[in-house]
Amino acid sequence: MSIKPILFEDGVLKMIDQRLLPVEEVWLSYTDYRSVAEAIVTMVVRGAPAIGVAAAYGAAFGAGAIEVSDSDAFLAEFDVVCKHLAATRPTAVNLFWALERMQECARDNANLPLDALKARLLEEAVAIGEADEQINRNMGAHGQVLVPDGARVLTHCNAGALATGGFGTALGVIRAAVEAGKKVAVLADETRPWLQGARLTTWELQRDNIPVTLICDNMAGYMMSQGEIDCVIVGADRIAANGDTANKIGTYSVAVLAKEHGLPFYVAAPTSTVDLNLTDGSKIPIEERSEREVTHVGEKQLAPTGITVRNPAFDVTPSRYISAIITEHGVAQGDYVSALAALVAQGR
Ligand code: MRU
Repeated sequence: MSIKPILFEDGVLKMIDQRLLPVEEVWLSYTDYRSVAEAIVTMVVRGAPAIGVAAAYGAAFGAGAIEVSDSDAFLAEFDVVCKHLAATRPTAVNLFWALERMQECARDNANLPLDALKARLLEEAVAIGEADEQINRNMGAHGQVLVPDGARVLTHCNAGALATGGFGTALGVIRAAVEAGKKVAVLADETRPWLQGARLTTWELQRDNIPVTLICDNMAGYMMSQGEIDCVIVGADRIAANGDTANKIGTYSVAVLAKEHGLPFYVAAPTSTVDLNLTDGSKIPIEERSEREVTHVGEKQLAPTGITVRNPAFDVTPSRYISAIITEHGVAQGDYVSALAALVAQGR
C-alpha cells in the first residue's frame, strides 16, 4: 500500500513533511489557507498533483473563514483567497487547475445559503483529493503495458505517491507493472538540488519493496551506455498543447540522452497537467528558487560565500524527445496536438 501524503481527518488537513524525509516522518496539521500556501512555498508538500490537492483544501479553508452576508461579497473574498494560493509556485499547472475548479464550484453554487456554499466547497476539495489516486491507478493501467517484464527503468525527481493524492504518476506506472506481475527495477536520479530522487523516490519504493538503485544525476548517460537502462519514465508539471513537457530540472538532459541511446522516454501525467492554453513549451513559466538550495545541502555549505548561482527548478523537454505521454484516459503518441486535445476532452 503506497503512502498517501495528504489526509483530511476531522476537519484537519494533515500532510507529511517532505522536507524531512527520509530521516524523519513528521505529519503537520493545517486548518487555514495561509498556512497551506506557506506549506506549498516551503515544499512541505510538492509534486504537481499534490500541490493541486493541497491548494483545493486551502481554498476550502479560506472559504470557511469568510464572514460576509451576500454571495457577491463571498465570491470577491474567495477570489482573494484563491489568488493568494495561486501565487505560491508558478510552474505546475495542477495548482491553477484545482483553484479554477474550486472557483467554478463557488460560482455554480452561489445561489446556496453561505453555510451550504462553504460546505459544498469543502466537498469539492475532498472530491479532488480522493479522485487523484484513482486517476493515477487508471494511468498506471494504461502505462504499464509499455513496461516490459524485467525492465530497468530510470526515473528523475519524485513522481510518486508522495507527489500526488496516492500511487503516483511515473511511479504509479511502475507500481502497476509490478502489480501486473512484472519484474521491474528502478534507477533513481538523485535530482539535485532538492534531492527528490535521493530522499523521496528511494524512500517510497523501498517502503513498497520495489527494487531501487540510487545514482547521481551525472551517471545516467554512463548507465545508458552500459546497457543498464531499458526505458525512462518521468512525471510532468505542465504539458503544452504540442506535448512539450516541463518537469524537474535535469529531465531534458535525460531525454536527450535517452534519444541518443535509442531508449523510450515516457511522460506520465494526469490530464489536469495538460495546459491547452499554451501552444508550446516556450510559454511555460519556469520557477527560479533560492540560491541556498544550490550552495548548501541542509546546513552544510558546499560553495564559496557570494558565488553567483542559478537555480531554475524545471526545464522543458521538447515533444520530439518524448515517445509517449501516458494519461488516465489513455496514451498519446505521434501527433500530440490532436491526441492530447482528445484525451483532455474525455476528462471534461
Ligand atoms: O519541485 P517539485 O518537487 O514540486 O517538482 C516535482 C516534479 O517535477 C515532478 O516530477 C512532477 O511534479 C510530477 S509529480 C507526479
